[in-house]
Amino acid sequence: MMPSYETEYQRSLSDPAGFWAEKADILTWHTPPQKTFSASFHKEDFHIKWYEGGTLNLSENCLDRHLETRSHETALIFEPDVDGPAKTYTFQEMHKEVCQIANHLRGLGIKKGDRVTLYMPMIPEAIFSMLACARIGAIHAVVFGGFSAASLADRLDDCESALLITADQGQRGGKIVPLKENVDKALSLSQKKTVQNVLVFQHTGATVSMEEGRDLYAHALPANADCPAVEMGSEDPLFILYTSGSTGKPKGVLHTTGGYGVYTTHTFKDIFDYKPGERYWCTADVGWITGHSYLVYGPLLNGATLVVHEGVPNYPDAGRIWQIVEKHKVNILYTAPTAIRSLMAKGDAHVTAHDRSSLRILGTVGEPINPTAWTWYKDVVGENRCPVVDTWWQTETGGILISPLPQDPTRQKAGSVTKPFYGIQPALLDEQGQEIEGAGEGALVIKHSWPGQMRTVYGDPDRFFDTYFTTYPGYYFSGDRAMRDEAGDYWIRGRMDDVVNISGHRLGTAEVESALNTHNCISETAVVGIDDPLTSQALMAFVTLKKGKTWDAEAFPNELNHILRDVIGPIAKVKIFVPAGDLPKTRSGKIIRRILRKLSEGQGDQLGDLSTLANPQCVEDIQKTLKVGKSV
Ligand code: PRX
Repeated sequence: MMPSYETEYQRSLSDPAGFWAEKADILTWHTPPQKTFSASFHKEDFHIKWYEGGTLNLSENCLDRHLETRSHETALIFEPDVDGPAKTYTFQEMHKEVCQIANHLRGLGIKKGDRVTLYMPMIPEAIFSMLACARIGAIHAVVFGGFSAASLADRLDDCESALLITADQGQRGGKIVPLKENVDKALSLSQKKTVQNVLVFQHTGATVSMEEGRDLYAHALPANADCPAVEMGSEDPLFILYTSGSTGKPKGVLHTTGGYGVYTTHTFKDIFDYKPGERYWCTADVGWITGHSYLVYGPLLNGATLVVHEGVPNYPDAGRIWQIVEKHKVNILYTAPTAIRSLMAKGDAHVTAHDRSSLRILGTVGEPINPTAWTWYKDVVGENRCPVVDTWWQTETGGILISPLPQDPTRQKAGSVTKPFYGIQPALLDEQGQEIEGAGEGALVIKHSWPGQMRTVYGDPDRFFDTYFTTYPGYYFSGDRAMRDEAGDYWIRGRMDDVVNISGHRLGTAEVESALNTHNCISETAVVGIDDPLTSQALMAFVTLKKGKTWDAEAFPNELNHILRDVIGPIAKVKIFVPAGDLPKTRSGKIIRRILRKLSEGQGDQLGDLSTLANPQCVEDIQKTLKVGKSV
């Protein structure tokens, strides 16, 4: 009989080395690890290492080891943007595709440790390319295909990418995404010019410009499916994924091989209660961490059959997602609250028109899910027979840290992520940094390292330590605020820092402000997150103009959002602009965002201590603008 969650959880805390040593057996190692872990979150001896001495390859673990027993079983089902014939790959076929791409990379001189950037649509080749990198030890850095050319250029330069993998175009909700065109722009914007070649997959077949000597079509390269996997050290880097923080440019979160592999395998197996032969569909794009850990690595390491959809869940209509569930008999569905809320708004008929009897488990991730949406997901979509797993985690955590386990009915609590996974020790800290005992609300931190934890910010180890381990010394600080109830279940309240979560996508307000400030009429901006019933949060921008300029309510919002689109991508869009004569500042000239946040929430009467304010008049002025609805 399986031990209970409590027994297993207590064992994971009382004997973490023994617990995680045993859990490592889920992977196939060339050399078994010598030491399970060694970690300290303190400045004096700060380090995080898991499974030292062990060697393995995750592409081999995702594919080769399934070949003996399941080579002819389906590994991947690809569903195009609009309904049409799906394409399937067996484990054998997928292995062949991955090896071929790995050989292309080798042929282009890519070797272990080199960085390879992927800017891909949601097609099987995106997944194959990630695994091809892992196979030869190259570090993949996937950039979401919705990011702009400028964002891509920044990321290419940051990790000094040697190769860029892309496709002619992508398709999303009936729209064409001009990927190769963006790549050409990005390469001309790149300062460092480290990219030697661009490997292009033909997807829509559109004619795109190909620079001789630099750009190569994958299909035109010699096919060779014999590619032995490189033996990787457990702490060798697997990938870099850029994510927004509260300050500066997005940072390259670096994950390594052994611990990440063990953690994503176990969390996938237990939290989605995966059973061999089941079909699993994660609607996240490969450009996000969910796409890495629970579209590619976690499921494939377990030998799961993936459903991959190029489009969006609500195109051409709100029934599309359920039609795909019916068409491919999906057993486990993992999606985001924004999608759930927007589908709910379209009415139950879109759902009930499709057979969902195959569904067994429903997952959600990325933003807090409101109880109404949770209940709709469970009762209408899942006919009240499928448990919902609301999973809390982050790009930095590599895998899910707090989530229900689907077998436990006491953990079906609308809006709560319930309890920590094995080995995870969350704590809530009060304003003095003291741990809150029992029920309460505070900063969500983690006390002990776990195998899937990020290892550094690529190229900037000090930034890693400073960002996550200095606010509360000795703890990993998530940036989130959470509440713990009497039953010990956690409820995520949202970010405490200057990160805004829009439809599950993270944006740093600093990034948005520096883009807005490039407009030639703008003097200064301050951006805050405001609640939004559909997208969780949205952006509100307070803007001051240069001398002699006047606010043009017709033109400026469009121009400013256009800049954001170019600099960051379509996910960055300000919902409300508030023109202001001045922004609230300290005497040393620092914008006091706390005041703007309160004003944006209509809490002008709860501004607290304003004695540090150098220009109190502006607060009243902003309040008036907000009251008369002059904002646009
Ligand atoms: O604020 C939390 C929110 O998303 C943040 C992490 O964003 P990202 O690194 O992009 O990863 C998203 C997918 C793992 C967190 O700091 N978040 C994530 N999951 C949840 C959540 N908020 C509430 N409930 C969740 N289940």
